[in-house]
Amino acid sequence: MRAIFPWTMNQDIDIVIFGASGDLARRKIFPAFFSLFSRGLLPEGVRFYGFARSDLSQKDFHDKIMSFLTCRYSPQESCREKMDSFLSRCEYVRGEYAADTGYRYLLDRMAAARGGGVSADRLFYLALPPEMFSIVSKRLSENSLALPEEDARCSRVIVEKPFGRDRESSDELIGELKKYFTESQTYRIDHYLGKEIVQDILVFRFANIVFQPIWNARYIEKIEILWSEELGVEGRGGYFDEYGIIRDVVQNHLFQVLSLLLMEEPDSLEANDIIDKKVDALRHIKPLRLRDVVLGQYSAGAGKPGYIEDPTVPKDSLTPTFAFLKLKVASPRWHTMPVEITAGKAMNERKAEVRIIFRKPCGSLFCKTGKCQPSNALVIRIQPDEGFHFQIATKEPGTKMELKHKNLDLSYISAFPGKTMPDAYENLLLDSIRGDKTLFIRNDELEAAWDILTPLLNEIEKSRLKPRLYKFASEGPEVKRYSRKHKLCLNPPA
Ligand SMILES: NC(=O)c1ccc[n+]([C@@H]2O[C@H](COP(=O)([O-])OP(=O)(O)OC[C@H]3O[C@@H](n4cnc5c(N)ncnc54)[C@H](OP(=O)(O)O)[C@@H]3O)[C@@H](O)[C@H]2O)c1
Repeated sequence: MRAIFPWTMNQDIDIVIFGASGDLARRKIFPAFFSLFSRGLLPEGVRFYGFARSDLSQKDFHDKIMSFLTCRYSPQESCREKMDSFLSRCEYVRGEYAADTGYRYLLDRMAAARGGGVSADRLFYLALPPEMFSIVSKRLSENSLALPEEDARCSRVIVEKPFGRDRESSDELIGELKKYFTESQTYRIDHYLGKEIVQDILVFRFANIVFQPIWNARYIEKIEILWSEELGVEGRGGYFDEYGIIRDVVQNHLFQVLSLLLMEEPDSLEANDIIDKKVDALRHIKPLRLRDVVLGQYSAGAGKPGYIEDPTVPKDSLTPTFAFLKLKVASPRWHTMPVEITAGKAMNERKAEVRIIFRKPCGSLFCKTGKCQPSNALVIRIQPDEGFHFQIATKEPGTKMELKHKNLDLSYISAFPGKTMPDAYENLLLDSIRGDKTLFIRNDELEAAWDILTPLLNEIEKSRLKPRLYKFASEGPEVKRYSRKHKLCLNPPA
């Protein structure tokens, strides 16, 4: 997908990161830009500006950035030189987000750095809480920093999730941003789409003919998406408590993965062709209701405090930290096949994976001997240790006919030895400069995702549903997964 698009920004680019004092900017954005810079993938004329309210000297700012830069792509000796060169292009601008002064100063600094000219293209990254998006965009526009699409200079904005709390607030946010940036200038980032293995789902499905005839409800019994992390909110409950696990992870990351699994083959690799099919897939998922979910909240366990014991969380919070959702897809390809999504914080392991479970054949040769084979399953492991693993039945070596379930493995580490895996943000930031929107969320994708969840979220809030408690570092609350008893076997084709 990437790399087939030409550069569309000129060689002078000013990149401004708002919220530059924050966690995301330090941990992800500056390190990703540095990796691209150190690989020579950014134009020679690139400059970076960090904008925030915090009182930081240039040195404080450089120290903050430096602490997270890594030399993954350059030998140690030349890396230090590259870091110095990168930092010499990074400038901190202190300003209030709602006042014009900081923006005017920013424009002056941009001009001064380029010998008085302001001809560079501009990329604005809003690493800020979403309630700041509208005011910052407005100020950018009023102070001639954000430029209309017709301007000879290119101007783009990147925004981070959360994109609203439901369909209505998402529409509002889209409407607000639209006043200052067109849809084609707006890049909504979901870092899951930048992960190599998530991009590989499209290749795996459509470049390997073996999977095409069996990629449907006739052969696939169910799809499971599992996401868990070992961490609780760890003192960052302010944001999480307002959103909960469904909005934080399911609406964006997991629905993006699901749409890639369910979509029909796109007409081309053009961004809009791919996104059209993803939107279509999402629109075929039936809106969820309370009966389709189990919600949980972690309590104390393994020496760790429970969710409501975190000082940043209200004591009476009903916010779910775990959700199990059963989805139905009303499309000809997927009709009757269940999809189950499980997502939880403070669980017993960190993992994100997809499990595609195939049906068993009816009256299998091996079942007749009382030695039924297990179902084939394709596991797409997103993290950690990304890779594809296809579980198949094999004969265990020996004198008896014993069947064993074994994996055909394609783990990235062994399949691509010595290859440095780019961080998801590196892929996405480079695409935003190149103008490739394939891996960004289009407004109608957001609408379709919120349409599935909004009725459920309204019901949860209206009924003040109490989540089930589960212990920190456990498997989460008990849930009733799609039962084996009701499984259908696969009849041979007539
Ligand atoms: N951290 C992640 O991995 C991650 C992942 C996905 C999405 N996000 C989203 O990306 C955005 C930035 O993430 P972050 O972790 O860097 O957040 P953060 O540290 O809480 O905030 C970033 C910066 O924004 C400014 N800020 C914070 N709260 C503000 C407020 N109420 N009003 C105005 N300015 C405020 C602060 O800078 P000053 O006070 O110096 O101005 C802060 O340093 C957030 O909206 C978050 O939801 C983060």
